[in-house]
Amino acid sequence: MIRSVILGSGSALPKRCVSNAELAEQVDTSDEWIRERTGITQRYIAGEDETTGTLATAAAQAALDDAGVSIGDIDLIVLATATPDRTFPATATQVQAALGGKGFAAFDVAAVCSGFLYAMGTVDSMLRSGMAKCAIVIGSETFSRILDWEDRTTCVLFGDGAGAMVVEAQDVAEDGPGLLATRLHAEGEHCDLLYVDGGPSTTGEVGKLRMKGREVFRHAVTNLSSVLVEVLEDAGHVPGDIDWVVPHQANQRILDATAKKLGLPLEKLVVTVGQHANTSAASVPLAYDVARRDGRIKQGDLVMLEAMGGGFTWGASLLRV
Ligand code: ACO
Repeated sequence: MIRSVILGSGSALPKRCVSNAELAEQVDTSDEWIRERTGITQRYIAGEDETTGTLATAAAQAALDDAGVSIGDIDLIVLATATPDRTFPATATQVQAALGGKGFAAFDVAAVCSGFLYAMGTVDSMLRSGMAKCAIVIGSETFSRILDWEDRTTCVLFGDGAGAMVVEAQDVAEDGPGLLATRLHAEGEHCDLLYVDGGPSTTGEVGKLRMKGREVFRHAVTNLSSVLVEVLEDAGHVPGDIDWVVPHQANQRILDATAKKLGLPLEKLVVTVGQHANTSAASVPLAYDVARRDGRIKQGDLVMLEAMGGGFTWGASLLRV
């Protein structure tokens, strides 16, 4: 059977790391408040020479190197972001050019924090239908550029970064590697709970992130628990079969509550929110890359990727590494 198999992963972070204490010098907050409510201790913030496109290119190149594949072998790039370098062209096309690629399809996907799951679902469909053979899937964000630095309820929660995976269509055995099941959802009626108050077709300005944190928290736990059960059922697995969950890194308390609801031991969660904060579409591939490189995620492991974000949008993918 044809499956989308992950050949390698890579990630990139901005040079500047900002601790909670440093942030508390500019914003009315404290290390203690941020740590207790979110688990975040620091975040990386892009400098003037760093953009969603440059971070995405660095992560994609690292993923190519890790996979032992050159840009000449790639015939698709899909990049998930809510903070593109420009309104258009798609940042994926800039990454294609920066990597020395030409001719093949390259486009962006916008599903905010669930963006990487939406990008992976799209790529998986294209690979299994034969539209492409080998793709780079990227999540890259510079949320620091859309934060209201006067709003302490949101600006302490986010960071910048990028993660990428090289994914190839391969003919594998039933118990072989690859993406086993993916589910994606959206509920646009909740668009006012987490959004950016600008856009090219409305204000003509980029706008700033606005969020009703408590409401988002409640929906996140419910939606993530139910999509994980759906994906496990689709793939014929039970929670106990999972080796690692690589969740969207929004908040330690959302991760804990979701794991508890499913009866998953906390040791099975890959948690990077403390170091990276919430990097939106970049958080899942960034966390995956960290856990694969430090030896936690190994070949043959059953890994669940999951995310929820503005829209609301949410989704999950189960894969055999
Ligand atoms: N520093 C210090 N105090 C703060 C800060 C801050 N940065 N932010 C808010 N406070 C204060 C508030 O003003 C309030 O004070 P008051 O009681 O005097 O009015 C108090 O802390 C409590 O505020 P709440 O908003 O009720 O705090 P809550 O316990 O709900 O925690 C948080 C807020 C962390 C945002 C929480 O609601 C949450 O985690 N929500 C999930 C949102 C999220 O993670 N979104 C990410 C994007 S969506 C996603 O990725 C899934």
